[in-house]
Amino acid sequence: MDICIIGAGYVGLTTAAVLADIGHTVYCTDVNEQKINKLQQGIIPIYEPGLTEMITKNQDEGKLFFDTDSERHMADCPFIMIAVGTPSARDGSADMVYVKSVIAALSQTIHSPKIIIMKSTVPPGTADWMEAELQQLGVDKGLFEIVSNPEFLREGTAIEDTVHPDRIVIGAKQNEAAMNVQELYHTLQTQFLITNRLEAELIKYASNAFLATKISFINEIARICDAYHADIMEVSRGIGMDQRIGARFLHAGLGYGGSCFPKDVNALNDAAQAKGIRLNLVQAVKKINRSQVDIYLNKITHSLGKRSDKPRIAVWGATFKENTDDIRYSQAIALMKKLVRKGYGVYAYDPLVSSELSSVVWCSNPYEAVEQADLLVIATAWSAFIEADWPKVKALMKRPVIVDGRNCLDKSALEMYGFDYIGVGRP
Ligand SMILES: NC(=O)c1ccc[n+]([C@@H]2O[C@H](COP(=O)([O-])OP(=O)(O)OC[C@H]3O[C@@H](n4cnc5c(N)ncnc54)[C@H](O)[C@@H]3O)[C@@H](O)[C@H]2O)c1
Repeated sequence: MDICIIGAGYVGLTTAAVLADIGHTVYCTDVNEQKINKLQQGIIPIYEPGLTEMITKNQDEGKLFFDTDSERHMADCPFIMIAVGTPSARDGSADMVYVKSVIAALSQTIHSPKIIIMKSTVPPGTADWMEAELQQLGVDKGLFEIVSNPEFLREGTAIEDTVHPDRIVIGAKQNEAAMNVQELYHTLQTQFLITNRLEAELIKYASNAFLATKISFINEIARICDAYHADIMEVSRGIGMDQRIGARFLHAGLGYGGSCFPKDVNALNDAAQAKGIRLNLVQAVKKINRSQVDIYLNKITHSLGKRSDKPRIAVWGATFKENTDDIRYSQAIALMKKLVRKGYGVYAYDPLVSSELSSVVWCSNPYEAVEQADLLVIATAWSAFIEADWPKVKALMKRPVIVDGRNCLDKSALEMYGFDYIGVGRP
């Protein structure tokens, strides 16, 4: 099949690579000329394990192409996938400006039958609204079907998640259109849920809101563990052994960030408000996540005590999670900003970020960051941090104090090395 993908970001690029690998001919387009120029030269603009290899292989085999001319490929391809951003608007609703610009372009290019597949995360009712909008703009209803096919990949494991998804959700008005979309994924061993478009749109928002809820829940339980001197690691292990609950997303720490959970939780809330519904649980999830950075800030301030000099804090990690270069809504960055505001000197290191906040000194390796540091914060659980040379770290620091923002380090091993270990819910 010939497929045109609109938007060469985390979702667009991963989907393009995997669909080409399945055997389709994929034209991945983007308005960002610089990005497309790089991709045409085989330079991948984002960090995602395994993505470069898969893109290069399929480019070499003549199955994957990058172009800025979306209209041309929209006009030629029977399948059009939309993977543009849907960031948070100021009021928390999903900003549909990029989707709207795609609709305008589509209205000029649909002259033969198309299946338009929405991969972006969009509010409930978007597919119906798009259908009406395209007709309003003069497109013959008989020429297109809009299908909702939300994406569930996680940055850092995007290829693995796309090749081995837990499920593929396809929301369509006509069963034939759903079957055509299912056929695109014919080599993937997974379960398909064929449903209607509204339900598919809601499944995506509800999934992200539920995962965010699990994280805020365990972070709240960690607060009780702190108060009672119990270990959250054991508590969450015990909770997760219950198959009704499951062990994943029960890891206490700095909280969730990234380009999806914060904005999707907001957009779900906005969609509810539009119908006069107040989502109390979702409000609480957001509140807990926001205050999680302050919980760490208090632990840091408490550990440093009253000082006449300017304490020096090393922060390892800036991305919202490990194995990605994405810093959108990163709790690590939020913490760094608050540390700077407190008047601390912040020396940061991240394997893929080196220039985000001008008020932070970016170091070229983790050991440079800890030189003469009064305290080290682990803000992202990169494996290089977990496997650090701890005797070397201790020798370089002024005070051997570690604040583990991801509860990812071996507490007893660090204490054996002579560190004062501070996590959340770790007695
Ligand atoms: N990143 C994730 O982990 C993830 C996971 C699941 C779902 N999603 C959803 O997928 C969508 C895309 O997310 P992303 O992280 O890939 O976004 P992104 O910001 O990385 O990429 C979006 C791309 O779309 C391009 N674009 C914008 N308008 C365009 C237009 N009119 N024509 C062509 N290209 C255009 C931008 O230049 C950008 O390169 C969002 O709705 C997001 O919520 C993201």
